[in-house]
Amino acid sequence: MKISVIGTGYVGLVTGVCLASKGHQVICIDKQAEIVNKINSKISPIYEPGLEDLLSNVIEKGKLVATTDLKSAVMNTDISIISVGTPFGDGKIDLRYIESAAKEIGNVLKQKNGYHVICVKSTVIPTTTDTLVKNILEDSSGKKTGDFGLAMNPEFLREGKAVEDFMYPDRIVIGAYDQESFETMKKVYEDFFDSPIIRVNLRTAEMIKYTANALLATLISYSNEVSVICEKVGNIDVKEVLEAVTLDKRFNPRVNNQLINPGMVSYLRAGCGFGGSCFPKDVQALSAFSNEMGYPPFMIQATLEINNAQPYRLIERLLESLGTLENKKIAVLGLSFKPETDDIRESPSLAIIKGLLAKKAKVIGVDPVAIDNTKKKFPQNDSLYYSADYKNALKDADAAILVTQWPDYIKISPQEFKDLMKVPILVDGRRVFNKSAFEAAGVQYIGVGLT
Ligand code: UGA
Repeated sequence: MKISVIGTGYVGLVTGVCLASKGHQVICIDKQAEIVNKINSKISPIYEPGLEDLLSNVIEKGKLVATTDLKSAVMNTDISIISVGTPFGDGKIDLRYIESAAKEIGNVLKQKNGYHVICVKSTVIPTTTDTLVKNILEDSSGKKTGDFGLAMNPEFLREGKAVEDFMYPDRIVIGAYDQESFETMKKVYEDFFDSPIIRVNLRTAEMIKYTANALLATLISYSNEVSVICEKVGNIDVKEVLEAVTLDKRFNPRVNNQLINPGMVSYLRAGCGFGGSCFPKDVQALSAFSNEMGYPPFMIQATLEINNAQPYRLIERLLESLGTLENKKIAVLGLSFKPETDDIRESPSLAIIKGLLAKKAKVIGVDPVAIDNTKKKFPQNDSLYYSADYKNALKDADAAILVTQWPDYIKISPQEFKDLMKVPILVDGRRVFNKSAFEAAGVQYIGVGLT
């Protein structure tokens, strides 16, 4: 099929490249000429494992091209997938990029003969596609929905695993306005044999996406809340508690007498909180929308509040141990919101750096790839500096806080901490280290959910 993809952020580009690799003819559209040039030169503007190789491959095969010219792209394709950003701002989701994309497409549809489907892939609050987008398309094209198709097809891509998640989806959700829109969208995915296709209406598709992210975020906050209770009681390890709980066969079934340890179980582990470009933004948007609809969402709101407090709990624990943080050198191990990405959006490391600086600590941030991005947010100064070398950061430090479980950091031995640091105290914000081994080496170990 001939497909145009509007917006080449991480969702748009992964979508365009993966669909082209499945044999579709794809045109990617972005307003920024610099990004378009990069794509056409086979350079991925974002870091995502496997993406650049696939991009290079589909460009060489003539299956994908990028342009700033939305009009010709829509004119020459059968489907337009909207994958522009939907940030959270001023207390609610900001839909301005969706609005302008819909308007521009509608203006082209006015002049276009033949059937065209518009599909929203961006994460948008329920009712966006069947009211806002539909109305804008009808107004700007002068046509009625039905003359053109309308669909909502959410993405379920994890950063760092986006190509794999796109190529092997757990489910393909197609919210469709009518049968013809659905049949057209189904053809886009006809090569994704094993994945179930779920047909729903437009607003249900939107709700599925939010519910999926809010559920995962809520599991994380639930585990973090339990961790605080364990800390308050004392002599209970949240890790033991949650590991035992998740052995329930409804979480962790046995197949051929082997536990399958589903990925979902990892969301039921205590840590320093969730971050990234999706969970915080989507959970806030859902909460704001629910309030607007007249229902204050208690659980979703609590998920956010627990998450906002969690990074500061690590600082409190450190304070209990050191008495004061003033002029203490604290190494923050890991800045990105999770390993294998340079993305620092809403990373717990940012709240931790802020909290440490407020207590007048001297902070050194360590990360293999995310230092440049963090510097833009918190420039280097007398109290804050950065190093890509963890040894440099740990040298003479009064304490270290593990925030991101980068493979190189979780391999640091207790002896290395002991030898490098002035006062060997480790706050394990991800519960990846072995407390006994650290204590045996003479390192004070502070773990989330363990006193
Ligand atoms: C998330 C969802 O996992 C995807 O299914 C969804 O498609 C995507 O958002 C999206 O809406 O686009 P992502 O933000 O890439 O994907 O990352 P996750 O791996 O889910 O991690 C999110 C945050 O939760 C991170 O800060 C991570 O450290 C934290 N997390 C994750 C935990 O604290 N515990 C875990 O077990 C897993």
